[in-house]
Amino acid sequence: MTANMYFLSSILLFVLTAFETSAKSVSISNVTTYINSELSLNNGLKMPILGFGTGGNGVTPSVVYDMVINAIDAGYRHIDTAFVFHNEIEVGRAINDRIRQGVIKREDIFVVTKIWNTYHSRARAAEAIRQSLSNLNLDYIDLLLMNWPMGYKEGPVDEPLDKYKLIIPSPVDYVDTWKEMELSVGDGIVKSIGLSNFNSQQILRILDSAIIKPVINQIESHPQLSQDKLINYCKSKDIHVTAYSPLGEGRLLDRTELIAIANNHGKSTAQVMIRYQIQRGVSVIPRTVMKSHMTENFNVFDFTLTSAEMKAIDKMDTNTRYYEEKVAEKHEYYPFSTPY
Ligand SMILES: NC(=O)c1ccc[n+]([C@@H]2O[C@H](COP(=O)([O-])OP(=O)(O)OC[C@H]3O[C@@H](n4cnc5c(N)ncnc54)[C@H](OP(=O)(O)O)[C@@H]3O)[C@@H](O)[C@H]2O)c1
Repeated sequence: MTANMYFLSSILLFVLTAFETSAKSVSISNVTTYINSELSLNNGLKMPILGFGTGGNGVTPSVVYDMVINAIDAGYRHIDTAFVFHNEIEVGRAINDRIRQGVIKREDIFVVTKIWNTYHSRARAAEAIRQSLSNLNLDYIDLLLMNWPMGYKEGPVDEPLDKYKLIIPSPVDYVDTWKEMELSVGDGIVKSIGLSNFNSQQILRILDSAIIKPVINQIESHPQLSQDKLINYCKSKDIHVTAYSPLGEGRLLDRTELIAIANNHGKSTAQVMIRYQIQRGVSVIPRTVMKSHMTENFNVFDFTLTSAEMKAIDKMDTNTRYYEEKVAEKHEYYPFSTPY
């Protein structure tokens, strides 16, 4: 089925199911199509629950243009990048090309990027936002995240290390960085702002002084790291969660527990892991360079995991992180020293 045909059938299904789902929020377990899988953020804006990741090991900027073109053609309307991926130019070029070619309109696509740790002081944060906009060649960013709560020594090096190979921190408090992000919303160049890799205490500190509430906390989550407590905490504060590395960077594809569940549905283990997050109400941003995997990962709206299957996946949790950022474990704001 081509992407266009998929979209036409999605629209039909959407009309059929529209009476069952309220306009403001969707019943996640009943989500049957991508088109009605948009989440309402706490500022009223919408975000597709399934996005496409563009950063990771072995993903060089040279392949990212084709990745994003193919992802848009496969139907993805939520693209995740970051300043530190050093691929915003290619991501933006692909999006702009598909807009110019009439395949999508700007308002059809939800673009996420992130401020890196060496840009936490207010002047540098403002510079990073301008730079991301210019790299992406867009008038606005849909969602800007603070990549980590930890500021690193400001300068040209992404991960400045001391002689012990540990991060050299910056003294900047992430609350100050947040204030600059709030200004960008006022300026209209950013629609929504959020966090990434924040623990519950750090979220609370932001909430204590925020004028604008974060809409999202983007965190690592997959069957080995369910993050239930942090997700429930975020939900209690009306902050949505996005799961990054939802396939455990590809390490969990051969797990027998997942193969058994996948076989029950005639699906792949990747599809099961993506569907797991969607059914928990967590948005999810798998990454792939392969067109066939893009289509596969997108086709997760035509089956439902049973509650027993969801529980079986929950049981795989070993609190295993692949993104520990160990070089920064001595940082005052290292997020993974507390339980959640
Ligand atoms: N906020 C943060 O700090 C942060 C940190 C890390 C990542 N992220 C975001 O999260 C995104 C996703 O995480 P990730 O890239 O770490 O890992 P991931 O999406 O969990 O896994 C990617 C790996 O899975 C493989 N894969 C994907 N679909 C597959 C399929 N259907 N069948 C078999 N293999 C498949 C890919 O290989 P192929 O390419 O060969 O398919 C790749 O090796 C990133 O791209 C990035 O946008 C954010």
